Amino acid sequence: MQLLDGKFISNKIKEEIREEVEALKKNGERPPHLAAILVGNDGASLTYVGSKVRSCEQIGFDSTLIKLDEDISEDKLIANINKLNNDSDIDGFIVQLPLPKHIDEEKILKLVDPSKDVDGFHPYNFGKMAQNLDSFIPATPHGIVELIKRYDIQTEGKHVVVIGRSNIVGRPISILLSNKSNPGNSTVTLVHSRTKDISFYTKTADILVVALGIPNFLKSDMIKKDVVVIDVGITRVEDLTKEKGYKIVGDVDFESVKLKSSFITPVPGGVGPMTIAMLLKNTLKARKNQ
Ligand code: GUN
Repeated sequence: MQLLDGKFISNKIKEEIREEVEALKKNGERPPHLAAILVGNDGASLTYVGSKVRSCEQIGFDSTLIKLDEDISEDKLIANINKLNNDSDIDGFIVQLPLPKHIDEEKILKLVDPSKDVDGFHPYNFGKMAQNLDSFIPATPHGIVELIKRYDIQTEGKHVVVIGRSNIVGRPISILLSNKSNPGNSTVTLVHSRTKDISFYTKTADILVVALGIPNFLKSDMIKKDVVVIDVGITRVEDLTKEKGYKIVGDVDFESVKLKSSFITPVPGGVGPMTIAMLLKNTLKARKNQ
């Protein structure tokens, strides 16, 4: 078993971006500028957005964090989005999800200017990705593809089973790995909460992407030997032995599954840091496109 070390690879990618930013600055150009809108005080979202802002600082990007009250009206949120759309100093921005229940997420994501949509959530970018055209690819599936590429894992002709059909992870990664590309050219099965007998499919997988948000869901009796396992789960589970009072748990029962797998991502330190690195990569792309 070999670990797919997302922390190590993401640091490498961040270093590559930092060097590009330095070159931009030497050329007299301004660095990329990422903005994030955070609505409310969800603990996990605060942590993720905090990491995104810190990473910007590490690599020489400018960053702006816009914190809005949990009970903000949809109109006021839209006003903030329009302001960022029209601000030529902002190259890209994200609206951290989930949004409070009174706000229509689908409507909000459609209002982000596609040229600044570094999350790749706008239907315009999602459609281009699905047609294998150049676009902003959502950061988590993009990070998974990059991890597969950097570890030289072969995907052509392989059976990939994706568990979970979210717009952020399951759906896009199933499209990317079936695209005519490298990595890609896989045969993909997408299973979800209404699939009868998920194990039937997972047992035939060469590569498994587990993104359903149920801690320790994938057990060793659900997989064949030498499978590649990508764990996208990041659930906070109470653990009073930790300073913060919780630990982060993946969707894979790591201790048993690692014994049967050829490659496996740890949680934390697998897909999570790759997500941030790819968001930064998308922001650099947005800056260059301007
Ligand atoms: N919530 C969970 N993952 C993401 C992400 O990649 N981007 C945004 N904006 N919100 C998220």
